[in-house]
Amino acid sequence: KKVVLAYSGGLDTSVILKWLEDTYNCEVVTFTADLGQGEELEPARAKAEKFGVKEIFIDDLREEFVRDFVFPMFRANSQYEGIYLLGTSIARPLIAKRQIEIAKMVGADAVSHGATGKGNDQVRFEMGYYGLKPDVKVIAPWREWDLNSRSKLIKYAEDAGIQVPSSKRGEAPFSTDANLLHISYEGNALEDPWVEPDESMFTRSVSPEDAPDKPTYVEIEYEKGDPVAINGDSQSPASILASLNKLAGDNGIGRIDIVESRFVGMKSRGVYETPGGTIMMHAHRAIESICLDRGEAHLKDEIMPKYAELIYNGFWFSPEREALQALIDHTQRFVSGTVRLKLYKGNVTCVGRKSLYSLYDDKVASFEDDEGAYDQKDAAGFIKIQALRLRTLGTNRSPIV
Ligand code: ARG
Ligand code: SIN
Repeated sequence: KKVVLAYSGGLDTSVILKWLEDTYNCEVVTFTADLGQGEELEPARAKAEKFGVKEIFIDDLREEFVRDFVFPMFRANSQYEGIYLLGTSIARPLIAKRQIEIAKMVGADAVSHGATGKGNDQVRFEMGYYGLKPDVKVIAPWREWDLNSRSKLIKYAEDAGIQVPSSKRGEAPFSTDANLLHISYEGNALEDPWVEPDESMFTRSVSPEDAPDKPTYVEIEYEKGDPVAINGDSQSPASILASLNKLAGDNGIGRIDIVESRFVGMKSRGVYETPGGTIMMHAHRAIESICLDRGEAHLKDEIMPKYAELIYNGFWFSPEREALQALIDHTQRFVSGTVRLKLYKGNVTCVGRKSLYSLYDDKVASFEDDEGAYDQKDAAGFIKIQALRLRTLGTNRSPIV
């Protein structure tokens, strides 16, 4: 029996590695993904080797992550519950996909992950697993074992000869998840939704108060709905996102502090830093504002909450997500051009936009003489017919207010 474990190299998944061997007497294959979380991955290899793991996979998935997951999601301007940019949600399907590829490659019949039984991540991982390998066996140790406290976990680790970093001995400060798009903080000090987090928690941005007193300007070029160049410099998807993270982080951009509705039913408080993603969100809306027709733009906005919810709930590999994606991508054919943004103390403002496909017509819009491009007299009949219902109501139900 063989099981492929999504292994970060941290304390929790190291305990899981040992627990899988002890409990299932199985051969464990480890898989560690580089999604731009900003951690060294070689220590994970060394640790897995120390456990006697024979098959160790360490994959750099950064470009695939941004190109095939983050960018398609940003074409929809996705925000869960109006604000969350889905930084963790969008990474899980890719990890699941690669994990299943590895399972098929090494002939494993089971996969395992370190997500708890209370959260969204278990759903996202396992929806991916079952969709891509319907007969797979899933082992979720957090739902099975009795190591339900920090001290029990540490005791188990020590008995197993796993090194416990001194930072983990006290109460662990936060539960975090990081990749190129975002870092999340949940739990512990954040469990009281009234309490503001300490400034020392943040790792990807300066506070708006400490950001420079002078604005930074940046130009982003879009092609068919995706950013392709920054200040005239063409870059790969992952490199674009990394560059935007730096620009935004330096200007205090991309922090949110929310209470969100988890798929399993509970409310949970989360704080997120999504610096580059926050810029992309504004930039994409700005380029769409001149390249999209009102009908397609508003239709996108109507389906966006549904699309975002599918990603949040773990339905990336579902036919309805793919159908919505096809619609969204179709609207992006003419979303090409350049936006100019001003970054200042936590704020992003679009101050310029241009495109060969711009639908903006200064002649029609102008407050000056439009030389017959638009006949103001036409508006009178347009409004009268729109108002027919209201006049009828006003007559029959008067007074309506
Ligand atoms: N609450 C966020 C979400 O559901 C972040 C989850 C973070 N996951 C983690 N394992 N720390 O997308
Ligand atoms: C977890 O419970 O493992 C992390 C939080 C989440 O999945 O929502």
